[in-house]
Amino acid sequence: MSVKRQVRTSLVLSVIAVMCFSVPVNAQAPRTSPVAPRREQVEAVVREAYEKFKNDNNGKNADYIPYLAQVDSKLFGIAIVTTDNQVLTLGDVKYSFSIQSISKVFTLALAMEEMGADKVFQKVGSEPTGRPFNSPLAVVDMATHTGNPLVNAGAISTTSLISGKDANEKWNKILNFYSQAAGEKLQLIDEVYKSEAATNTGNKALSYLLAKYDRIYADPFESVDIYTKQCSVGVNAVQLARMGATLANNGINPSTGEQVIKREDIPHILSTMTMAGLYDGSGGWAWNVGLPAKSGVGGGIVAIAPGKGAIAVFAPPLDEAGNSVKAQEVIKYVADKLNYNLYSPSSVGLK
Ligand code: DON
Repeated sequence: MSVKRQVRTSLVLSVIAVMCFSVPVNAQAPRTSPVAPRREQVEAVVREAYEKFKNDNNGKNADYIPYLAQVDSKLFGIAIVTTDNQVLTLGDVKYSFSIQSISKVFTLALAMEEMGADKVFQKVGSEPTGRPFNSPLAVVDMATHTGNPLVNAGAISTTSLISGKDANEKWNKILNFYSQAAGEKLQLIDEVYKSEAATNTGNKALSYLLAKYDRIYADPFESVDIYTKQCSVGVNAVQLARMGATLANNGINPSTGEQVIKREDIPHILSTMTMAGLYDGSGGWAWNVGLPAKSGVGGGIVAIAPGKGAIAVFAPPLDEAGNSVKAQEVIKYVADKLNYNLYSPSSVGLK
């Protein structure tokens, strides 16, 4: 064999050897998404975000639901679940907080599962209200009256679409559906439910306004009660991130492998979240972050990076629009660093 040929052969052999021995000992399960991020890409960025924002004292706990006013406003947790089921966590990720308005996303998914997206669109619609999330004026002014499934009026209307022989059956169906998306059995936080049920006159008023315009499809007060229960479901940051990752993963829960939400419904859900997920803060959010997200007055926000995963942040103090201050900061930081903005061609690798 010539010297040149010998050199080439040994080069090829050493390349093969390097390829064999550089497989990490703890190699992950087969990746199901070609765009799910690598763990090491995300870990450092999440830690940076946590350190950068942990001492931000801006915002204030929601207090129109008395229970929420007394939640420790220092609680702060971040969880990421990727479409290939990697889980990254930091901070208070075991604390169970009320899902509040984030529930609206999953009741929308269930309504579409039951009656199809077209029917839901016809009965509730999906238009921005440009008003606070609990606005009665939006119900009066808007041609559709319901606005969209993510403001209180549209959400109560969406809840009223869920079928069942009685309120209990409807409620259990909703809770089971959320649990399938979370990959674990979720539960009502009874104290939150009682606190909210004792003070939800505004939502009751919305339900009767909807009835005036024939935009509620079951008994108005029964629908508000089920809606109040869905808002009082407890989740921790990991469970919430997994619910988000189910949306990011074409409706398949990445930990159980179950198809929870219909694949064809995902674009309807994510576009609605982009338009109204942060209420009257949604336009600024789309401008600055470019990811579908949903907030709740309990202090949670979940943002979806389609195909990649979801990030859930919990920190109770809210801004004027009702969105967690720290959660917005963290998600914006992480999305920027990881190039997640959906509207940026670099989010799919274009240099
Ligand atoms: O109906 C309400 O007012 C609450 N259960 C939910 C509102 C909410 O989470 C708005 N979020 N930003």
